[in-house]
Amino acid sequence: MHILSADDFHAHFTEILFERADKIKFCPEQWCSELKGKIIANVFYEESTRTRLSFEAAMYKLGGKVLTYFPEKSSQKKGESSQDTIKTISQYVDALVIRHSDKDFFSEHKEYSEVPIISAGNGPDEHPTQALLDLYTIKKLKPERELTIMFTGDLTFSRTIHSLIKIIKHSGLDVKLIYTQALHEDRTVSHLYPFTMDMPNEEVIPEKDIPEYLPKVDVLYMTRKQTERWRLLPAFFVPSKFILKPELVETMKSDAIIMHPLPRKEELPQEIDDNPRAVYFTQAKFGLYVRMALLWFLLRSD
Ligand code: NCD
Repeated sequence: MHILSADDFHAHFTEILFERADKIKFCPEQWCSELKGKIIANVFYEESTRTRLSFEAAMYKLGGKVLTYFPEKSSQKKGESSQDTIKTISQYVDALVIRHSDKDFFSEHKEYSEVPIISAGNGPDEHPTQALLDLYTIKKLKPERELTIMFTGDLTFSRTIHSLIKIIKHSGLDVKLIYTQALHEDRTVSHLYPFTMDMPNEEVIPEKDIPEYLPKVDVLYMTRKQTERWRLLPAFFVPSKFILKPELVETMKSDAIIMHPLPRKEELPQEIDDNPRAVYFTQAKFGLYVRMALLWFLLRSD
């Protein structure tokens, strides 16, 4: 079983993983030899801090081991095809965690792996395990059934948003989604957000209207500008200019939460970190439990 899209997380599967993550969170020590003898390979063709290290920490905490593949020091330099690389690594390990900048990487390589592949992100397309930890964070910190979630930043290229919307769709949560972006006035929504089109309760607002809408939101999900992907710029693209100034945070509901997959840039100033609404480091911490739960599910032998 591969995990390549948030569409792989249907509601029942997510429930099983979240129950497991709860148990792990409650008593992590109890799980320290569950994956003894198992090995995963981290195969990151693109940079990573949280995703790579949390998979690594998750595996160690479950008693397993991790191999790290360094593309710049591999036989790829000798001209080996990436299909052969994936097939070879899959002979040594029980699962592959792979990140690549090409959105088609998994469709072109999945058949070559003899073990499960977990996507750690494919270009601007998807980041399913981030969606899993984001949904877990929302469910833990905002357990009420009806929520308004606002997305800011780079909605066109943020794979975390694309996957989060998919997993929310599967979750059965009763949410209103507000998408914000600097828009060309002459463009209709469908040019910008093909991924939003089948949600019943969604709204697209121009970025300049964020202050007006902010007091109504329960979850603010921010992303950075994905400048490294801007070589793929569609003609309609206008970069986000939104910065969450501390005075704007004070207009939000007192129990609203501010999420960010990190890394952040100027859109989320450090002064906000001590505000009780700021949960992005808790969100990162939850990523450890959720990835432990996923690895446990995919690799346990009984
Ligand atoms: C995100 C990613 O790589 O897509 N980071 C992460 O995995 N936590 C977000 C980003 O890079 O902006």
